[in-house]
Amino acid sequence: MSPLPTHVAIIMDGNGRWAESHRLPRIEGHRKGVEVSEEIITASRERGIRYLTLYAFSEENWNRPQEEVIALIAFLKQFLREKCPKMMREGIRFRAIGNTDRFPDDVQDEIRRTTEATRDGKGMTLILALSYGARQEICSAVETLIGQGVHKVTPEILSEALDTRGIPDPDLLIRTSGEYRISNFLLWQLAYTELYFTKTLWPDFHEEEFVKALDAYARRERRFGMTSQQLQRKKAV
Ligand code: IPE
Ligand code: IPE
Ligand code: MG
Repeated sequence: MSPLPTHVAIIMDGNGRWAESHRLPRIEGHRKGVEVSEEIITASRERGIRYLTLYAFSEENWNRPQEEVIALIAFLKQFLREKCPKMMREGIRFRAIGNTDRFPDDVQDEIRRTTEATRDGKGMTLILALSYGARQEICSAVETLIGQGVHKVTPEILSEALDTRGIPDPDLLIRTSGEYRISNFLLWQLAYTELYFTKTLWPDFHEEEFVKALDAYARRERRFGMTSQQLQRKKAV
């Protein structure tokens, strides 16, 4: 087993508190947050991580003040527009998960365009969770299976009906900002993921912090229900 996670998922939290602590409007925290996301995307690609999933906007985030929602959508559109050429150059394949048809048409177009333009990328896959909620995702998957007349459901069959079909489950989940919860993120996919929580707010989560998380992951023993002794024996073979 490689000490480098194949798939890292991140709950990027703390933009609002970062802004507050700098006496800035919340939106400035989100602006800084986008910059840090770009830094972490680059660091992940350079380190050879194959899949990076970023929780950018939850289904529940629609309930925030309208001006904040509008600003977040504007940042998303700008990010896709500006970063698409770079993703194409660097072989990053873009994918969105979540209920993206809740976004305005122009944003949906941008999501489709970026997905299409980067589909042959052979490097890292960047997955943005946009208007994403894990319970909603699982319900949709169940509806899909019912629609297909499936009666016998296995974990493999359900996995393939989720938005994340074809993507291996995350090896490492990082949540910033000192909150110890999952907030409706990838509930199914996180079954055996290693969890890493840090008090650092997302706008302060630079590459050194990311490396700390990767190092912590490398020291974990993933037992998947087995005993430590069984694993040692397996390693020795
Ligand atoms: C995370 O930062 C970004 C989104 C949820 C879009 P927050 O905006 O949740 O920041 P806090 O939690 O209020 O500090
Ligand atoms: C989770 O952060 C969603 C994203 C990071 C996009 P929140 O800040 O919305 O989570 P809660 O509401 O504090 O659990
Ligand atoms: Mg938050």
